[in-house]
Amino acid sequence: MTASVIHSLDAKYYTDPEIFKAEQTGLLARTWQFAGHASQVENTGDYFAFEMAGESLFCLRDREGQVHTYYNVCQHRAHQMVTGSGNTRVVVCPYHAWTYELTGQLRAGPNINAVEGFDKSKICLTEVRTEIFLGFIFVNLDNDAKPMDVWFPNARTELEEWLPHYEQLKPLEWVEIPENCNWKVSVENYSECYHCSLNHPTFAKGVVKPETYDIQPQGHCLRHTTECQNLADMTYDINSGFEHQNEYSSWFLWPMFSFQVYPGNVLNTYHWRAIDADHVVVWRGWYSIDGAEDKIARHLAIQDRETTVEEDIHLVESVQRGLKSRGYRPGPLVIDPKCGVNSEHSVMHLQQWMREAVDG
Ligand code: FES
Ligand SMILES: [Fe+2]
Repeated sequence: MTASVIHSLDAKYYTDPEIFKAEQTGLLARTWQFAGHASQVENTGDYFAFEMAGESLFCLRDREGQVHTYYNVCQHRAHQMVTGSGNTRVVVCPYHAWTYELTGQLRAGPNINAVEGFDKSKICLTEVRTEIFLGFIFVNLDNDAKPMDVWFPNARTELEEWLPHYEQLKPLEWVEIPENCNWKVSVENYSECYHCSLNHPTFAKGVVKPETYDIQPQGHCLRHTTECQNLADMTYDINSGFEHQNEYSSWFLWPMFSFQVYPGNVLNTYHWRAIDADHVVVWRGWYSIDGAEDKIARHLAIQDRETTVEEDIHLVESVQRGLKSRGYRPGPLVIDPKCGVNSEHSVMHLQQWMREAVDG
């Protein structure tokens, strides 16, 4: 039997604007994408607009408490409905004042009764599939998309176990990290710890125990698990009183979001927003009870920003430059049949999904 060596993706996947365009209209339009945190639409009539896959969308909470997401476009002559965020009793289009209920149904419009046969019950804002996942709002432009629990089996119940207080959690801070690289370079870098011991001394010595690190696929989720560092070496107090306080775990939800729980049950998130083939912005979110000041989460957010995040920016930007070199031939991935921290099997899974997204 000949051993089969698996090679990394061709450079064009990370540099070609045509491939980026195909991802925007394909992959992003049929996968679950993060929209915002449910606390951004806490009360009836709260809304916020956001961009995704080249579309403007907005989330809104109706009178029954349900969160809807709509395309941000009036069904009359296509003016945008809302900008930014706010609270409203009904949604009024700024162009000719057509008015919609919070459920998206057309309610009234100046002089529409003059039109014989005008059936306003047939006119509705176009709705987008929406799921609330642990208090986070996700949307999918594909009406036939499978639910998140099918895409990411067990992730929800595991996260509920790691975060028994999740219903009380709200954003404490969001940090925006621009990186001069393709989003997939950043996601791959996030999804292996083969580079950790050399490049992340604080993380590898003061947060996790690298020899216990592993990453395994769970449907389209990549699940990271590891124990925390010996307590004497931890950079902070992990005693939360919850189960799993001495573990680190993360749930990367293909393609652009990750829930991460630090030892001490501290929730933080990654959200990759792809700008173009060469640019991505990574949003790091940190959460605390009611979003109130929290010494440990704040300490970790700062430590993370000054160490792991800073260290990773240099790595991914160097890789992006390298991918443009005529001298680069995609090298073999280091796949250890026993997996573990020094194996790139997780990158192999990711690259498989990346190929499928572009090549079908
Ligand atoms: S385009 Fe919205 S009311 Fe005319
Ligand atoms: Fe890293």
